[in-house]
Amino acid sequence: MASHNLLILPGDGIGPEVATQVERVVDWFGKRGIARFETERDLVGGSAYDAHGVAISEDAMKRAHAADAVLFGAVGGQKWAGVPYEHRPEAGLLRLRKDLKLFANLRPAICYPALADASSLKRENIEGLDILIVRELTGGVYFGEPKEIVTLENGQKRAVDTQVYTTGEIDRITRVAFDLARTRRNKVSSAEKHNVMRSGVLWKQVVTEIGKEYPDVELEHVLADNCAMQLVRWPKQYDVIVCDNLFGDILSDVAAMLTGSLGMLPSASLGAPDEKTGARKSLYEPVHGSAPDIAGKGLANPIAMIGSFGMALRYSFGLTEAADLLDGAIADVLASGVRTRDIAGPGVNTVGTVGMGDAIIKALDTRG
Ligand code: IPM
Ligand code: MN
Repeated sequence: MASHNLLILPGDGIGPEVATQVERVVDWFGKRGIARFETERDLVGGSAYDAHGVAISEDAMKRAHAADAVLFGAVGGQKWAGVPYEHRPEAGLLRLRKDLKLFANLRPAICYPALADASSLKRENIEGLDILIVRELTGGVYFGEPKEIVTLENGQKRAVDTQVYTTGEIDRITRVAFDLARTRRNKVSSAEKHNVMRSGVLWKQVVTEIGKEYPDVELEHVLADNCAMQLVRWPKQYDVIVCDNLFGDILSDVAAMLTGSLGMLPSASLGAPDEKTGARKSLYEPVHGSAPDIAGKGLANPIAMIGSFGMALRYSFGLTEAADLLDGAIADVLASGVRTRDIAGPGVNTVGTVGMGDAIIKALDTRG
């Protein structure tokens, strides 16, 4: 049986609690003989800063490079508001993305029927929603140089962030989007702002060219601001949305909220396949943050983190059946009415983080 090496980086806030539940699920798959996983934990974010004075240690980076996949919790919190900018918790995540060259961020937004009423949109607008945001993750304004604050002669300060994309960067993320659209509903919507930004002009040109290689996939271009509006108007018009790093950050939060809970959504960040082995560097993380307000209280919903492991089964290990099994178990649990606080309507009984983990393990036992 193949053995896979998983590095778990729980991070801060609710990260460690939800990571514990994902470890139970990983163990379940190991015990069932579906695949063997060797797991180890390390620190990232504020917890790494507290221990080592940096947002991720060199040793943890080495382990991340060596791992078959990284499972990441969440980083950040008020506690670290005053740490030097280069050591802020988010820097750990950004370094992982950049150093592991994880340029393709897949953020599915799926609305479970059982949760349709938890959305801020009307049920008919989001029931059955299944869209995938493909966000470029290692370029654009997040990493462009210069990136600085300088003091001018008149004493004012001037802040610069640089939005920059090369054709190669746009090319590779676009191909990921088209390839995935082929496994879904064959539609790609490319969001940019070519009406204002040079990078948008180039983005649109490159996507158009690549689209010609995929005549079976419908391509549409949409201005990013209009895309945000369309997402809250009629999100089901979309299948795959491809966009740059910053637009993807914003649009994926919008899409996440449509589904009824940010606590539900997993994501995958993938590198290019290795030329010899075909293996990709990969990191999986919930879309939600570290939620310091509920950290340590056992209230956090572990579904996004567990679903992220499901994406690892699918995209890193090719274990499609196992991934379907896990997604099915999550859907069963939701359909049976088990709710953490974030997805419960008024007056509904709720379980905590461990209770939700228990329910998912039980559903796996029943299905598997
Ligand atoms: C996300 C987060 C990160 C981002 C932060 C934590 C750096 O918001 O993954 O969407 O902006 O990319
Ligand atoms: Mn974000």
